[in-house]
Formats: sequence, C-alpha cells, structure tokens
Amino acid sequence: MKVLVIGGGGREHAFAWKLAQSPKVQMVYVAPGNGGTALDARLQNISITDVVELRQWAQENRIGLTVVGPEGPLAAGVVDEFRQHGLRIFGPTKAAAQLESSKAFSKAFMRRHGIPTAEYATFSDPVTAHTYVQQMGAPIVVKADGLAAGKGVVVAMTLDEAHAAIDFMLMDNALGVSHNEGEDGRAVPRVVIEDFLEGEEASFMVMCDGKSVVPLATSQDHKRLLDGDQGPNTGGMGAYSPAPVVTPQVHARAMREIILPTLKGMEKDGIPYTGFLYAGLMVDAQGQVKALEFNCRMGDPETQPILMRLKSDFLDGLLAATEPGSGESFAQLELEWDRRTALGVVMAAQGYPLVPRKGDAIRGLPKEADDAMVFHAGTVMADGVVQTSGGRVLCVTALADGLRQVQQRAYQVLQGIEFEGMQYRTDIGHRGLKA
Ligand code: AMP
Ligand code: GLY
Repeated sequence: MKVLVIGGGGREHAFAWKLAQSPKVQMVYVAPGNGGTALDARLQNISITDVVELRQWAQENRIGLTVVGPEGPLAAGVVDEFRQHGLRIFGPTKAAAQLESSKAFSKAFMRRHGIPTAEYATFSDPVTAHTYVQQMGAPIVVKADGLAAGKGVVVAMTLDEAHAAIDFMLMDNALGVSHNEGEDGRAVPRVVIEDFLEGEEASFMVMCDGKSVVPLATSQDHKRLLDGDQGPNTGGMGAYSPAPVVTPQVHARAMREIILPTLKGMEKDGIPYTGFLYAGLMVDAQGQVKALEFNCRMGDPETQPILMRLKSDFLDGLLAATEPGSGESFAQLELEWDRRTALGVVMAAQGYPLVPRKGDAIRGLPKEADDAMVFHAGTVMADGVVQTSGGRVLCVTALADGLRQVQQRAYQVLQGIEFEGMQYRTDIGHRGLKA
C-alpha cells in the first residue's frame, strides 16, 4: 500500500518513519515533508499543500491511506475533501475539528456535556471583557477563540496582563490570530476567559473511529522555552512517555470523565469524531482531572517519544480506525508499547519562538540507532546539505530503562549535533523525576 502523510514537522517525520516500518507499506509520501524525510530512502516528499491538489494527487497516485498531522489542513476541511471523493483518510472533519479550532465551541461543548473543565465566559465586546476580569481578579486565563499559532493563550498572573491580552486578541487583525465566523458568516473576534487551574499537566491522546476509542501511551510536554519552565510559551521544547502523573486512577478518570463523554457528545451532536484526539489535562493534588483544551491531532513533540515506544504496526492501527463498516476490529485493537521510557529534546533555532534564524548548516547528525532517532522539523535539504528552515529544528529522541537513563542517552546523542544559534533545554524530563 502507498500511504500519504500530510504535514512537514517532527510529528509527521515520526508518522512517516513508523509507517515505513510496516511490511505492508510500499512507499510513504510526505507533503510537504522536511530535510529528514528527504534523507530517508523509504520516504518521498511531495511539494503540495493545497487541500484540493492533495486530493487530486492522492487519486492519481492510488494512495491507500492518508494520515493528517497538523490542525491547519484539518480546519481547512482536508478530511471532508478526501472522503467526498472516496479516499481513505484518518482525521476529523472540519466540523469536528472545531474542538480545537474554536475555543468557544469546545468550551460550550464541554459545558453542555458535563465534561470537567475550568469555569469560563466568552466575549466579543472588549468593555464587558475588561469588566469581567476586573471582577474575577488575577490570576486568570485569556484565550483567543481562533487558531493562533501558539499566541492564543495568556495565563495572566496580573490584571494588567489580562487587560493587555484582551486588547490584543480582540483587535481586528491581531498578528497571527485568526477569527472564526459568526452567525452571519463574518469573522468575529472572540475571547474565552477562564479560571486559572493549578496542578500538573499531561497530554492524553487517543485514536477514534467515531464510536470507539483506543488510548495511546501517555506523555508530558515542556511548553516553556527555558530550563525550569521559565520564559515564553512555545509549541513544545521536549516530551517524554509515559508520564508518571497519569497513574492508573488518573487514566481511568480521564477516559471515563473526559474522553468517552466527548466521543458520545460529538456523536449526539451529529458530528462523530474520527482521528486522533488530544486532551490537555490538568491533574490536581487530589487526582481530579480537568480538560484544559482539546487538540484534534497528535501533539508535537509528544508524538516522537510516543511512536518510539509503539511496537504494534502503526498502519494496522490506522487501517482498523478507518475501516468502513462496523469498526469491530478497531474496538478490539490493543496497541503494544515498549516498557522502556522514551524522551525527546527539541533543538530550536536562534530567535524561536519569535523570528527564527534560518539557513544554517546542521553538522554531526548521527545515524539511526535502535535506541535513538533524530526526528527533523524545521530542516531542508539544500545542495546536499541539511539546513535549518524553521523554529523547531530537530527532536533528538531516545529510548532507555527509566527516565534518568533516557535523559542521559538523549543528551548524549544531542551533544554531537551542532548548528549556529541552536538552543535547547537541558532539563527535559525534570517533572517526571520530581514526581
Ligand atoms: P491551551 O492551548 O489551552 O492548552 O493553553 C496553553 C497552556 O496554557 C496550557 O498548556 C497550560 O499550561 C496553560 N493553561 C491553559 N488554560 C489554563 C488554565 N485554565 N489554568 C492554568 N493554565 C492554563
Ligand atoms: N505539544 C503541544 C501540542 O502539540 O499542542
């Protein structure tokens, strides 16, 4: 079978790398891919990003299965487009992807279906929004309704920060913030303002076929740029799997109180959920679990350590999840995980997360090993040299017995790699070591 992976980041490199290990896979195409997928002879990059062109290309090239990485193409309706033409694809429809693409939609959905989450209110008018935060006090969390490339959430420790966030997110054309359509079809700036929650965060990801759920291994991400969880928020500077904070009790609660009611609620609302579903969890000291957010995709960089641990054939899982008909084989699917811990450290370009420096040669990339793999993200192959081309450049991922050992192994592999202006955290995994 020929398969297509849509996207060009570290998550998609990991998807393609894992799919290529399946004996049933003849070729993995990655659109648009990156320098890492270009280097691997089992993978082939395709420079198409438009949804309709992708569908036409997939038809012409007899692609048996497509899997989507990022939220952009999902929110643009790539799954609807492929399905309308009878192509097999794993991901949520545009309507279902609103769980991520609209915070107002996902909060209203959670409230309607009794899914535990922070109390909140939604605003379009800045004056009432400012009055609300003044009443509630700080700390408080301000979230742009639409997709905002990592700039859409401000955890305001002071009222001044909260007021500034409201003004920024409700501006007509705030940089990077896309506004969703209102009832009249015109874009309306909107913010969700919610209570600040305390606790430990974890990433909880599952696969859904519209009716059933298969959980993936748990993980924890490190969102801040600097050691000790300081500095600005990023897409994620490193991750590891499993996450000790997700005890068997927390796992059971997350499934029972968040994941299953979400799947049922979506079905009831007439937009059954298919694809990866990612719940960002906040686990408090008593082991109570709340949903911070939903993403309608796998996490990046969480995918890299999670797939390092997957022992089952990834293609089989995706085929079961997209099987037309009863879905029995999916409901019975049990994925097998390596008992070891996996950990990935992101190497980012200078300037990330604002304006990353590009075009630097990357030296010292190691060969793939059984217990280590360097997944590429913002890289390109130019004149036979791998160069930086984006904010998060590489994710150096390793596998070992226990968190301390895997941390050592990942940093040992990382030591050999070099590019101008590189930045990375030296403490990925520290939360798990403390726990
Ligand atoms: P989100 O994109 O909604 O996950 O928000 C990004 C990050 O902001 C999360 O990973 C949390 O660290 C933080 N965050 C979001 N909502 C809350 C909240 N209600 N209380 C505390 N922190 C939050
Ligand atoms: N690493 C967090 C995310 O993918 O949203």
